[in-house]
Amino acid sequence: MPVTKAVIPAAGFGTRFLPATKSVPKEMLPVVDMPTIQYVVEECVESGITDILMVIGKGKHALEEHFYSSRELEKRLEDNEQFALLKKVRRISEMADIHFVWQKELNGLGDAVSHGRTFVGNDPFALLLGDTILKGSDSSQSILQQMLEIHDAKNASVVALEEVDRDRVSRYGIAGGTNITDNLLALDQIVEKPSAEEAPSNMAVAARYIFQPTIFEYLSKTPRGKNNEIQLTDAMAAMMKDHEMFGFRFTGRRYDIGNKLDFIKTNIELGLNHDDISGELKDYLRTLARKL
Ligand code: G1P
Repeated sequence: MPVTKAVIPAAGFGTRFLPATKSVPKEMLPVVDMPTIQYVVEECVESGITDILMVIGKGKHALEEHFYSSRELEKRLEDNEQFALLKKVRRISEMADIHFVWQKELNGLGDAVSHGRTFVGNDPFALLLGDTILKGSDSSQSILQQMLEIHDAKNASVVALEEVDRDRVSRYGIAGGTNITDNLLALDQIVEKPSAEEAPSNMAVAARYIFQPTIFEYLSKTPRGKNNEIQLTDAMAAMMKDHEMFGFRFTGRRYDIGNKLDFIKTNIELGLNHDDISGELKDYLRTLARKL
């Protein structure tokens, strides 16, 4: 059965990017001409997902507004014969069925994911973190699509992994396991934000997961962990003791827009690939580089 549902947690405060994120959700910060969350939704749609649940919290209403249709704006664009823009704006509310659920208290990623239980039911589902854009080096297939293929073949949960420097392992969930092929690992360990000494490897969990619905049973039994939050990684660690779980070492780039330096890098890199501005941006960067 194809995976058609996705959960996108987008409730976090965005403290790494204050004060920009005091009233603007980090997921709404623009990368070139689209908010980050729209890249994430586009990745879902490209991969065959038709129903999306966003887990939002206080101060996140802009996300709802972005995905609801705006009749007034559409009429204005129509009256002004701005048809190309009209098409882009209409697409946002038409590309998928997007639902929202409210996470009252920020009790961690595991708790946010639990809010998807009723929506997901007994189906496998994709989980995408709303502050991260992933671009595969193979432009014909999104990373999520590649993970869905693994899920289909193995009938087991899959998580995207990225190698990080040893001195940065404490920022991520870190997984360990046995190589099956160059890019596929059978996982037997996962630890949330370990110290360099505790880390089972330098393979970091990278914002994309495909889960069997069984994850909810493990989440419901997961006590508070790192930072006194309910950690998804703890539920995954318990689940992989009883069920196979795979790590997909993707080839491509991860753009985490939740901090200022990566946000700027993301805008430059995706700007260089954007037809409207790439030429001028390249010239500008060359001029700038000569002055540095
Ligand atoms: C979350 C997860 C972590 C993962 C990271 C990047 O951490 O808890 O396991 O490695 O996203 O996908 P956060 O960045 O929300 O602190």
